[in-house]
Amino acid sequence: AREQHDGAGHEPAAEDAVGLGRCPECGAWSTAASPARAAPSDAGLVVRTLAGTGRAGARIHTGAPEADRVLGGGLVPGSVVLLAGEPGMGKSTLVLQLVAGLVEAGRRCLLVTGEESVDQVALRAARLGAPRERIRVAASGSLGAVLEASAREEPEVLVVDSIQTLSDDALEQSSGSVVQVRECAASLVRHAKSTGRAVLLVGHVTKDGSVAGPKTLEHVVDAIVTLEGERSGSLRLLRAVKNRFGSCEETGVFAMTAGGLASVPDPSSMLLSDRRPGPGSAVHAGLEGTRPVLVEMQALVVGTPLAQPRRVAIGIDQRRLAALLAVLAKTARDKLSSCDVFVSAVGGLHVREPAGDLAALLALASALDGAPVDPGLVAVGEIGLGGEVRRAPGMERRLAEAARLGFARALVPRASKATCPGVDTIGVADIGEAIDALTSYRVARSAGPEVATCYA
Ligand code: TYD
Ligand code: MG
Repeated sequence: AREQHDGAGHEPAAEDAVGLGRCPECGAWSTAASPARAAPSDAGLVVRTLAGTGRAGARIHTGAPEADRVLGGGLVPGSVVLLAGEPGMGKSTLVLQLVAGLVEAGRRCLLVTGEESVDQVALRAARLGAPRERIRVAASGSLGAVLEASAREEPEVLVVDSIQTLSDDALEQSSGSVVQVRECAASLVRHAKSTGRAVLLVGHVTKDGSVAGPKTLEHVVDAIVTLEGERSGSLRLLRAVKNRFGSCEETGVFAMTAGGLASVPDPSSMLLSDRRPGPGSAVHAGLEGTRPVLVEMQALVVGTPLAQPRRVAIGIDQRRLAALLAVLAKTARDKLSSCDVFVSAVGGLHVREPAGDLAALLALASALDGAPVDPGLVAVGEIGLGGEVRRAPGMERRLAEAARLGFARALVPRASKATCPGVDTIGVADIGEAIDALTSYRVARSAGPEVATCYA
């Protein structure tokens, strides 16, 4: 009988066990789980199975499909989402557009602005064509006032722009300090959970991504989405970096226009629109989340008198560039040591995936030799430190996107089995083979244009 109680043998139901000292099944005394452990009570922790809990609540659609997709289908009632980004990225613009979409759909929203005056928000709303008469706005930097206003207004969605401007009077630190940001966010999380309201917080990040920003809030909020891009360009990417209610796979692509953020249905065409194929240019068949995006990689290699030549990475990780150059240096291209090297993912899209290595390498090798890469070719593959070309996920989708944009050939990892009608795949095992493919194109090209399309 004792073994039964220790194992998962029989488990007294909470109601039945109340007041029992003797097990109803085996007759032993003091072995049945005590009522305090099995039944909900103030004194003990309620432990239960997952059955019947965790129903997927209805999502609140924001009216911006691109944002909904990134959020995993919309805002979740009772949850807190942090929208993070550098100043000037368009966070205030985006939240105002979301609020406009929500009120258009009949949702109650409250927008609290701590950065701008109500007049400024109104001007922006007019520019965006938002329904000004239905958008409820308050300007405040006081947590207490915000919670009070939210209790009064009972919005389904509460937006606070920004968390850094909010302060809790009970604390002596100034607004924007780590303590204030964390405590105010924690209060808003409690508010969201207790009222079932969805809360959207705007948070500024500095270049290093830290100071009193999302890093201090990472554990507090349910989801973090970032809005990023090159400030000089118009492209903006919305990415989920944490999501308790969905995947972090999706990326929303927007362009900042005179009328606010507009979703970009075809980012590949936009990114390749200014491309001028030539030495130092190769096209990466990229994947942003689950979405294929073609990006041009450019490289420039120029002689330098500097003892420490420059290595500049724009839109790709500096460490990946360093690793690529180290791998390339081993193939006896010692010219690199006396040259400045610039590699750029064109168009303001930051290529984070290692699969961008192969296109960057082609661009570099082509820049070194002053000879162009096949303009009808895309490349995809990660390059290991041993010079091997490694597989990348989502090959079918990448190739299909290449085919859609008229690319006829793809340089891919040899181990990849993916195929796509209209695209000839050229498998390469290491960077030596990748550079050979570049050379054979050049040789074929000099033999005539007809031959150039079947060099592999
Ligand atoms: P903003 O939303 O204020 O950025 P953040 O809140 O992230 O600091 O907008 C930043 C920039 O966007 C601003 O410099 C001007 C530009 N912008 C447009 O180009 N079009 C627009 O319709 C709006 C509202 C802003
Ligand atoms: Mg702002």
